[in-house]
Amino acid sequence: MTPQVLVVGGGMITVDQILPSLYHMQRQGVIGSIAVCAQHARTVQKLKDSSIFAMAFPGQSFDAYPNSGDSPQPDLYKEVIAKMARHNIVIAAVPDQLHFDVVMTALQHDQHVCCVKPLVLTARESVVIEAEARKRGLVVGVEYHKRLDDRSLMARQKYRQGLFGEFRLGTATLMEKWYYRESNFQNWCTTEHSDTFSYIGCHYVDLVHFITGLLPASVSVYGIKDKYPNGNEGYLWTDARVIWQNGACLNVQNSLSFPDSAPGTNTQGIVMHCSGNNAGGLIEHSDQYRGLQYSYVNPAQYAEPSPDYFQYVDLGGEGLQPVGYGYRSLEFILKKCIAVESAADRQAFLASLDAEGILATPANSRYNELVMEAGRLSILNNAREVVIEYGPTPGVRLRA
Ligand SMILES: NC(=O)c1ccc[n+]([C@@H]2O[C@H](COP(=O)([O-])OP(=O)(O)OC[C@H]3O[C@@H](n4cnc5c(N)ncnc54)[C@H](O)[C@@H]3O)[C@@H](O)[C@H]2O)c1
Repeated sequence: MTPQVLVVGGGMITVDQILPSLYHMQRQGVIGSIAVCAQHARTVQKLKDSSIFAMAFPGQSFDAYPNSGDSPQPDLYKEVIAKMARHNIVIAAVPDQLHFDVVMTALQHDQHVCCVKPLVLTARESVVIEAEARKRGLVVGVEYHKRLDDRSLMARQKYRQGLFGEFRLGTATLMEKWYYRESNFQNWCTTEHSDTFSYIGCHYVDLVHFITGLLPASVSVYGIKDKYPNGNEGYLWTDARVIWQNGACLNVQNSLSFPDSAPGTNTQGIVMHCSGNNAGGLIEHSDQYRGLQYSYVNPAQYAEPSPDYFQYVDLGGEGLQPVGYGYRSLEFILKKCIAVESAADRQAFLASLDAEGILATPANSRYNELVMEAGRLSILNNAREVVIEYGPTPGVRLRA
C-alpha cells in the first residue's frame, strides 16, 4: 500500500521537517499523493513557491487546501479528511490546542495519525484518543523526534542493559533564541495559556522516560513573568523539578533567552547522574554543539550547525536528500501506519507498538500529558508540588 498523506497545518514544523520528509518518501515510492491543508491559501501557496523544495524535489508537488481566496478556513480540514479513502494518513501540525480536534476528526474517518508533540494538553483527551484508535485498529504516533536521534537510542539501549546503573539526579536545558519573543509566540504563549516548560520542557521529560523507563511522580515549576514586545505577559523563564517514581530528580530549565548573536538556533542538552555497582554512572549529551565550527565569509558569521536533526545533502542524481533524525522520525512513524495494514492481527500489532515503547503512542506516553497538566497547575500556584496519579482515571493534584 502506498498511502495518501494529508498534512493539516502549513507552519514552521511543516516547512522545516514534515513536507520535505514526505517528498523524499514519495520519491522513494513509500507514500503516494501528498496534500497540505492550512487555514489560509497564502500559507500553502508559500509552500508551493519554496525555492528549497524546488531545488531538492524537482517536479514534485502537493494538493493545496485552500487553493484560493483570502479568508481563513478553519474547518476546511474536516471536509478534506472526509473525502479521503479510509486507512490513509493524517499528520496533525497545527497549534497545540487544536491537536485534539484534528486527531479525533482523522480517527473518526478511519485514518492513521501522526501528531507533532504534544499529542494533547490533558490526559483525559489522550484516553479518548487511545480508545477511538484502538476500537478502529488505527496507529497514532506522537512525533517526539529526539527519540530517533541515535544518541537517545544508544543511551536507552545501554541504560536498559544496566551499563549506567540507576538514574538519580539530572539537569536538562532547552533555551530558544531571544528573537522568538517577536514572533507569533507573543499572541498565544502567554501566562494564562502556556509557559516555556509546557512548550519545550516536554522533550527532555520524554527522553528521560524513553531512556530509563521511569515514570514522573510529581512536578513543580517556578516561572518568571516577562513582557513580550506587544505588551502581553508570559512565563518566559521556567525552572521545573520533576521527581521520578524511584525518587530521582530532573531539573529542567527553559526560556526564550538564548542570545540572538550566539551560534546555533538554541542551546540544549541533558546530564544524567546515575549510580550502581558501587560507582557513579553518567550520561551527558550536548544536543546543540555537535562538533562543527564554521566561520562563513559571505556574510561573515560564525556558526555551529547540527548535522544531526535535518539537513539536505547531495548524493548525486536529481535534487537533494533530507537526512537526520527529523527525517528518520517521520519515516519511522509512517512506516508503522503502513505496516499495520498488512499485519495478520491489527490489535496485536498495535499492542506491540505500545509495549516496545519506541514509537510514542497515546497509551505509552500519557505521562507527557500528565506532566504538562501538573506543570500548569504548579506554575499557577507559586511552584507548589503537584502529584501525578496513574491508573484508570489518571490525573494531577496539588500536594496537600
Ligand atoms: N520540536 C518539535 O517537536 C516541534 C517544533 C516546532 C513545533 N512543534 C509543534 O508543531 C505544532 C505547530 O507548530 P508550528 O511551529 O509549525 O506553528 P506555526 O504557527 O508556524 O504553524 C501552525 C500552522 O497551523 C495552521 N492552522 C491553524 N489553525 C488551523 C486550522 N484550523 N486548520 C488548518 N490549519 C490551521 C496555521 O495556518 C499554520 O500554518 C505545534 O503543536 C508545536 O508544538 C513541534
